[in-house]
Amino acid sequence: MSGTAARQLAGAVASSANRYESIHWLHAFRRVRQETDRRAALLSAEDQMVQSMADASPAKWHRAHTTWFFEQFVLVPHLKNYQVFDPDFAFLFNSYYVAAGPRHARPKRGMLTRPSCEQIAAYRAHVDGAIERLLEQATVAELPQITSLIELGLNHEQQHQELLTTDILHAFAQNPIDPAYDPQWRWPAAEHRNGYVELIEGIHTIGHDGVGFHFDNERPLHRTLVGPVCLARGLVTTAEWLTFMRDGGYSTPSLWLSDGWACVEAEGWTAPGYWREVDGAWFAMTLAGLQPVDAGAPVCHISYYEADAFARFAGKSLPSEAEWEVATRAGELGDAFGIVWQWTRSAYLPYPGYQAPAGAIGEYNGKFMINQMVLRGSSLATPDGHSHLSYRNFFYPPSRWQFTGLRLADFSD
Ligand SMILES: [Fe+2]
Repeated sequence: MSGTAARQLAGAVASSANRYESIHWLHAFRRVRQETDRRAALLSAEDQMVQSMADASPAKWHRAHTTWFFEQFVLVPHLKNYQVFDPDFAFLFNSYYVAAGPRHARPKRGMLTRPSCEQIAAYRAHVDGAIERLLEQATVAELPQITSLIELGLNHEQQHQELLTTDILHAFAQNPIDPAYDPQWRWPAAEHRNGYVELIEGIHTIGHDGVGFHFDNERPLHRTLVGPVCLARGLVTTAEWLTFMRDGGYSTPSLWLSDGWACVEAEGWTAPGYWREVDGAWFAMTLAGLQPVDAGAPVCHISYYEADAFARFAGKSLPSEAEWEVATRAGELGDAFGIVWQWTRSAYLPYPGYQAPAGAIGEYNGKFMINQMVLRGSSLATPDGHSHLSYRNFFYPPSRWQFTGLRLADFSD
């Protein structure tokens, strides 16, 4: 084969690989975008605008913000002649990216009666079309950077899908008629493995190895000392939580961290989030509306402070994130994914040597590495295909509107 023919063949191979890559991402993009629409389709326009607290955002805002993310970080820098849908939207739907410009105050997202749901749908369609054009046009040289940004945008949108679900549950929980987001919703079946797995003392590698999608906060891979410790194979159940409540868990200051006890007193906590006592029986607000609490289900909607107090009550502790990861890699934990996020006793800190990426994208995770605690696993609201083993979720210790629970660690001999 002549040099020219070889070059032509190599070019043709690269071009068909490019085409395959573009189609793969086009399908991935459509799949994730449709899941947002599916979750929002269960909501009326009125539902989609409510903001029940500063930490939660309206569903309409989630739909628009995830779209802005693609517009701001993928289309504006990479699609030639891209027309921004509406110049006001960058101000309305930028969340916390200081480098991307000024933004609407977070607690006032519920004031945005305009743009309407229809305009947000048009915005989504505009950006969807532009992303499809970009994927079709991208050259072999351009595609890797574009698809890596699209992959980040899709994982970002999946995070907001979970928030859309948790935020609307919080909104509905404020409504005296206890609306059901999805009357067909049921708790996912838990494995309920019994007993504990023993982790003998050893040095283990944790974090993401860099192959496949991961967030920047999962890197670098590093070694850490783990054990000796035993980790519960199952999650703490509602029945166990009821024992904690009956035995004065919420009225015994010695079980609580000082900040936790301050929350108990200030918020009047006597039970997990969304629980309500009706004629001597406990009910909880769920995605299917108000339901009797299920004693067999894993306990949910607890803060870090409650998880920590329960562990002290049980004479145990919470796992560290490294212990959780080592035991999960070994396949020893039941219900690690898809039921409730599990609080760990690990503060959300950078892994040794962590450096945030340059530019506005560097604001994604790194600047939040203070005053929050790590949760591991995933929850019933996490979209399919989003979670992975080294995933680090994080929330402030008093937060309990996410689907959060716990498993125990035992350091006794
Ligand atoms: Fe976001």
